[in-house]
Amino acid sequence: MEHEIQDVLIIGTGIAGLSAAVTAAEAGLSVTVLSKDGDVSRNNTWWAQGGIVAEGIDDNPELLAKDIMEAGSRINNVQAVNIVAQEGPELVHELLINKAGVPFERGKDGNFDRTREGAHSLRRIFHVKDQTGRAIQEHLMAYAAGLKNISFLPGMVAVDLITNTHHSTDPQQRYKKRKVLGAYVLDETSGEITPVFSPSVILATGGVGSLYLHTSNPASATGDGIAMAYRAGCEIINAEYIQFHPTTLYHRDAQRFLMTEALRGEGARLMNRRGEYFMERYQPELKDLAPRDEVARAIYNEMDSSTGFVYLDARNLKVDVQQRFPGIFHRCSELDMDIRSDLIPVVPAAHYFCGGIKVNSSGRTEIKNLYAVGESAGTGVHGANRLASVSLLEGLVFGVRAARSIIKHEAKLKSRLVNSIPEWKYPPRVVDFDPLLIKHDLQNIQSTMWNYVGILRTEKRLDRALSDLNYYTHRIERFYKEARAGKEIIQLRNAVLSATIIARAAQANTESRGCHFREAPKSMNPG
Ligand code: SIN
Repeated sequence: MEHEIQDVLIIGTGIAGLSAAVTAAEAGLSVTVLSKDGDVSRNNTWWAQGGIVAEGIDDNPELLAKDIMEAGSRINNVQAVNIVAQEGPELVHELLINKAGVPFERGKDGNFDRTREGAHSLRRIFHVKDQTGRAIQEHLMAYAAGLKNISFLPGMVAVDLITNTHHSTDPQQRYKKRKVLGAYVLDETSGEITPVFSPSVILATGGVGSLYLHTSNPASATGDGIAMAYRAGCEIINAEYIQFHPTTLYHRDAQRFLMTEALRGEGARLMNRRGEYFMERYQPELKDLAPRDEVARAIYNEMDSSTGFVYLDARNLKVDVQQRFPGIFHRCSELDMDIRSDLIPVVPAAHYFCGGIKVNSSGRTEIKNLYAVGESAGTGVHGANRLASVSLLEGLVFGVRAARSIIKHEAKLKSRLVNSIPEWKYPPRVVDFDPLLIKHDLQNIQSTMWNYVGILRTEKRLDRALSDLNYYTHRIERFYKEARAGKEIIQLRNAVLSATIIARAAQANTESRGCHFREAPKSMNPG
């Protein structure tokens, strides 16, 4: 299928991709937005519960920056933190509220209702009950869909980025600076892979939660952008910093489900199986609202080997939980739990990638005209551990910044270069693989990452992870070279590469900091 060349190609439809799309389109650029799922809402933005940092009463950018830096163990990129703290709150009003019309909750006085989460100095988080991400996704998507120069292509899976140095048949290109020209893209319906050219490409592909056995993320979080950018020659930074959300629902018959930190912000407390509220032993000052890395490790310590979970006690909240947290209330009711009277069994699960594709303050990677925004980008905002509800804000700010940089630099594609890019080469002999084999390989990666590159890491576990991942890589690359192209095999190839990048970074960094914690093994079952 022929695709018209548009000014900007965006891969991913969460808050970062959509903010970039809207900004570029409003400036008159033509934009194509790809989504690997037919349902564009299957992304981490939609799943975000707690909220988005805006501003509190008596708040200021310096105080927000200080909280972000402290949660991130002060290895954050100071410039990026200041940008988010200064520009973020205004963009929440300008783009999300005024343009997209996101209906953030308001109190009886008409003022925005502000909630609180761990490690924030004050209440500064705007929310839409416990479904903030969903509301943002739906409203921003509707706003973007109303702009005439954005075309959405759902069910289109990016396979690899096209660069002059990797793909051009002109031998002189190898001596030129590397630049991006577009991406090879699989149409899930026809099974065809075609080049989609664009002078500027933005990766907004989200995170890596699905590389882990237990995660709060949707299945689509397989590190696609990280892997594509790495193959194209980008540096991936801070990859060892995987944030584990302290509280996801533990239930034998159900997938992990996020129990938003806003529950603790409204007074819920963690309790061990002996009935003790334990957080004050670990963090006497902030207690249950300590930074996520500290709470996750405390829970890990408190879980006993026979049960592998602790409780969240939301029985005595001052708010009406059914009204304030309807998503959680409903999910728990489906599992026969009434959170007004029952304790909620919880465990930590992989939640957020604090590292990413190295970018500058405009979201530009080291490859010319290639940008990365949102969770796939390594802006350095989060340092070693992300402060709650800053992820949506970062996506918003850097999505807009990337688009503004593209507007300013206005790249053009030379037709000579486009014509030098070959069609996709299909394997001479195409094999249909048993989907069970692909599923099983992904499960192997997830178990390896959960057990050996999880909350507590040791030298031996990381060695084992890398040798297992090396073995899976060989097998998966062979699959990939022979298999009929499909989303599952493309994701699997990206997953094993992203997992290896994370495990290598975790092995290379022997210093415990934030959510990268190395220790001698303990005789404890993480669940
Ligand atoms: C939550 O609601 O606890 C998650 C929000 C976030 O990850 O910032």
